[in-house]
Amino acid sequence: MKEQILSHITAACPFRDTLHWYSTVDSTNTLGKQLAQQGAPHGTVLIAGQQTGGRGRMGRSFHSPQGHGIYYSLILRPDCKAEELMHLTCAVGTAVCDAVEAVTGRRPGVKWINDLVLGKKKLGGILTELSVAPSGDVAYAVVGIGINCTHSGTDFPPELETVATSLSMEGLCADKAKLCAAMTEALYKLSRELLPQKHAIMERYRKDCITVGQDIAVLRSEETRYGRAVSVESDGSLLVEYADGTREAVSSGEVSVRGMYGYV
Ligand code: BTN
Repeated sequence: MKEQILSHITAACPFRDTLHWYSTVDSTNTLGKQLAQQGAPHGTVLIAGQQTGGRGRMGRSFHSPQGHGIYYSLILRPDCKAEELMHLTCAVGTAVCDAVEAVTGRRPGVKWINDLVLGKKKLGGILTELSVAPSGDVAYAVVGIGINCTHSGTDFPPELETVATSLSMEGLCADKAKLCAAMTEALYKLSRELLPQKHAIMERYRKDCITVGQDIAVLRSEETRYGRAVSVESDGSLLVEYADGTREAVSSGEVSVRGMYGYV
């Protein structure tokens, strides 16, 4: 698989020299953090055929069966403070949309903040994890991306059957090697633009983000509030206007979009 992936990556992309393929891992993000602690360089790419402990945002698991998906993590070492990297998940979302579009001809959307969606269903997700020094400098970031490629409906566990989709289920090309290569190219480009092109990246994310303009519910442990998503701020937070006219920049937690994932 590694050779197949490399055959689609141009020589101009240096991340190809630090790309690793694993048949099975617990989680490529967990492994990425371990390798980063041990000094793995900027641009280290970890791709697995299967994850036994794939992780998602908010402590959720990410279903990662053998051979059906892409389970991909990238180690970045940007020279900046953590507060300058609040847009990282959004930036990765837009880069992955570029890669999926390049390979399949169809551009997914992003459900704020980190879900890749096609046909109103979840195609995949992004999990970004930062290690920050006491000075506030970023030591490293691990960006993890999972994409459902060749699953049929029955390959998902019952609780995901109505909310998840795959490239195959959408009738799209699900060539994992080509998509891994396109993701590596797109993420290399992103790594160079991440800080200097922040404004342009967020403009692109706002176009990809299907949550903007929708009726939404903001789910918190103590309450659920209903409103409309107005826009995405430069730090990646979601600007929400509630029924009483008050506005809030939501930066964490779960936001449900009416008409998606069973929210009616
Ligand atoms: C989410 O849906 O909340 C994010 C899912 C992220 C899954 C990817 S798969 C590769 C990397 N390794 C993990 O354990 N998680 C991410």
